[in-house]
Amino acid sequence: MRLCNKVVLITGAGSGIGRSTALVFAKEGASVIVNDLTAAAGEETEAAIRSEGGKALFIQADVTDPASVQKMVARAIGEYGRIDVLFNNAGISGVGALHEVEPDAWDRIVRVNVRGVYLPSKYVLPHMMERRNGSIINMSSCVAEIGLARRASYAATKGAVLALTKSMQVDYASYNIRVNALLPGTILTPFVEKYLKESYDDPQAGLDGIRRRQLSGDLGLPEDVAQAALFLASDESKFMMGSPLYIDGGAVFGKNA
Ligand SMILES: NC(=O)c1ccc[n+]([C@@H]2O[C@H](COP(=O)([O-])OP(=O)(O)OC[C@H]3O[C@@H](n4cnc5c(N)ncnc54)[C@H](O)[C@@H]3O)[C@@H](O)[C@H]2O)c1
Repeated sequence: MRLCNKVVLITGAGSGIGRSTALVFAKEGASVIVNDLTAAAGEETEAAIRSEGGKALFIQADVTDPASVQKMVARAIGEYGRIDVLFNNAGISGVGALHEVEPDAWDRIVRVNVRGVYLPSKYVLPHMMERRNGSIINMSSCVAEIGLARRASYAATKGAVLALTKSMQVDYASYNIRVNALLPGTILTPFVEKYLKESYDDPQAGLDGIRRRQLSGDLGLPEDVAQAALFLASDESKFMMGSPLYIDGGAVFGKNA
């Protein structure tokens, strides 16, 4: 019960890494506020947690919309009185070298992946500051550290999230709030399946290429990232501040292909 009595808000928890993390956090005793844009997905995560005896509440909200986020945070605080951990996980993918990216697609990915970290943080932070306690986990990516082909817009957003994480940490350290980033490599989720289809004529060849740029022969699983998130959410990581945490099968410090 590493998160006993903690109230956790996870954005984009209807699928992939967010869903897996919600299940792991609930098993560790947390009350999990499951956020997603898609109601059916969020409700499924909520039901999965409850069916295992865990505590979950689904709140639909669009992390890019201030009114929607404010309403979500107000409801969460009304229900639980506090938010101990905010996991800014929601994100979308973007494919293409810079000249291939249309302006609308560029704006959309920046909106979801950067504004979608800024807004939940903006409305949760005052509550954490008041209680002088909190852990914020921001979803970056190993693409913030290494150049990958045809990922320009996505890389730009994940680099921004990493820089924002460090800046936030400096501003909120005196409130006993920790802010750290997760940098996953390739994790098998619906997000990656879509990316493989969009990026490669032969998705299997794409997968083989991804494997070659890691040290591990396997791709990551959502649970691998969930365990890292659990560490950052728990008090066990109390000396980690403004840090990038890599879960990438050796892609960053192993091979840079
Ligand atoms: N899968 C990977 O290989 C990988 C690697 C590094 C980083 N990441 C990051 O991890 C995060 C989760 O990725 P995933 O692979 O689990 O993706 P996923 O597509 O399986 O899940 C993302 C969830 O976010 C939700 N979402 C999207 N826009 C939203 C919005 N505006 N408001 C609320 N919810 C919204 C989606 O509905 C979806 O349920 C993303 O930020 C992604 O960039 C993923």
